[in-house]
Amino acid sequence: MVSEDARAELLALTRSAAALLRWEEEISGCGVAPAPARSRVVDEGAALGDVAPASGDSPRSLSVWAQEAADCRGCRLHEGRTRSVFARGSEQAEIVFIGEGPGYHEDREGLPFVGQAGALLDKMVVAMGYERDAVYICNVVKCRPPENRAPHEDEAAACSRFLDAQVAQVAPRAIVALGRSAAERLGCIEPEGRGWRGKWSSYRGVPVMATYHPAYLLRTPAAKRQVWDDLQAVLARLGRALPGGR
Ligand code: URA
Repeated sequence: MVSEDARAELLALTRSAAALLRWEEEISGCGVAPAPARSRVVDEGAALGDVAPASGDSPRSLSVWAQEAADCRGCRLHEGRTRSVFARGSEQAEIVFIGEGPGYHEDREGLPFVGQAGALLDKMVVAMGYERDAVYICNVVKCRPPENRAPHEDEAAACSRFLDAQVAQVAPRAIVALGRSAAERLGCIEPEGRGWRGKWSSYRGVPVMATYHPAYLLRTPAAKRQVWDDLQAVLARLGRALPGGR
């Protein structure tokens, strides 16, 4: 005779295994298919003329911050930029994803995560049960570092007023730090240098989960399982069921 508790536990395990399989299916094949066509909910790069207005009730909307970022010469990174890269997604999002800095494609388009890593990030978002543009996506620095290197400490510090404005205005319920560099900036690295991913910390009062960068996942598909665990922890913290109520 199976007890109710054991039955519930078995059911939860089955659901979790099924969700993992679905997740692996959903995010597989990235880097082959082009990113899906996207609607611009927020596109605050240099081309501000064609963006949806922010909520309008703030004296300093994020589109004003975006324009400031586009004009910013606060660190050496401005010298190499084609366009600054502020954000994409919804300013009403309950989750903000933060990467390290724009790459080649992002610098050209003025939007974050539009290359292969971005296509994978979009799949991760959808696998979590969100519409692609229902989350808010930005980076620690708004201008592309040369050779795609990680931003230096002084560059991240010079850009932090933009990031802080984004976190304050979007006021998400959770942040996901993508990759070690973003995790470091958002205070997720323990001083002893022990593991950083899969851990909660807090940035300006918002819970932060650190996980691997999608670019790392493209190179290391075996790490998908850990990323899924981290994203499930985020969903659990937000009280959201696994996608499809499964
Ligand atoms: N990697 C990042 O960290 N950010 C981007 O916008 C693109 C790639």
